[in-house]
Amino acid sequence: MKRPIAIIGGSGVKSILKGEQKILGTPYGPTPSLTIGEIDGRPAVFLPRHGEAHSSPPHRVNYRANIWGLKTLGVERIIATNAVGAIDQKLTPGEIVIPSDLVDMTKSRPGTFYDWSPVTHVDVSQPYCPREREVLTSSTSSAGRGPPKEVVMACTEGPRYETPAEIKMLRTLGCQVVGMTGAPEAFLARELEICYASISFVSNMAAGLQRTLSAREVEDKGRETSQVLNKILAGAIGRMPESRKDCPCGTALAQAQLKKEVVEVAQ
Ligand code: HPA
Repeated sequence: MKRPIAIIGGSGVKSILKGEQKILGTPYGPTPSLTIGEIDGRPAVFLPRHGEAHSSPPHRVNYRANIWGLKTLGVERIIATNAVGAIDQKLTPGEIVIPSDLVDMTKSRPGTFYDWSPVTHVDVSQPYCPREREVLTSSTSSAGRGPPKEVVMACTEGPRYETPAEIKMLRTLGCQVVGMTGAPEAFLARELEICYASISFVSNMAAGLQRTLSAREVEDKGRETSQVLNKILAGAIGRMPESRKDCPCGTALAQAQLKKEVVEVAQ
């Protein structure tokens, strides 16, 4: 039996699969309503990150419930989608990019499953699954978009957009795009040893690079790019290998947990 692959749909991304609707209970609360079905004969799950009616803002998304829920379904691979603003002026709205690294600028989000013993420090030297990134890159090229640029993504807290000075700072830090949903989602997936990569569409130039920013503009760009994005996602699912021996994701916990000390209490 093949393991299901999950798509986490961001702003403007609707389910590309039909199937059973299910809300899962988790120790962190319920997931949004998931669609559980099949793409190209492979079991697949669609999770709308912000809820079906786009009711959870980025800083209130229950990232832990979402990732935990997918894990309980046996999901071993996640492809996430995000809308991002371009910090790099060589990028243009409508362009598809693949994050290779992530700068977490969030402030208030529960960011780990390991709040207690065993103390766990996962390695995120490659925060996105390198195998999934390769597959997403080739699927983007096959969808007629040419090879997508690899970018460093900054994740800000939101829900407001950034100031021009913040964007200048993020550029100085080496970030090419900015979104509000990359973290802690990628890190939580690694903590549960799930392969995870993102595919992002540039919805706007970041603050200071265009006159004003609007949520409507982001939504409209999402609608415009949805056809090609869906084609890329369907292609990537078809090509995604079942085996996970070429990436660090499936064994992320092997070296991450401190050995439990036996504490002898003097009577
Ligand atoms: N900033 C942060 N998040 C975003 C943006 C942006 O400019 N565009 C789409 N999501």
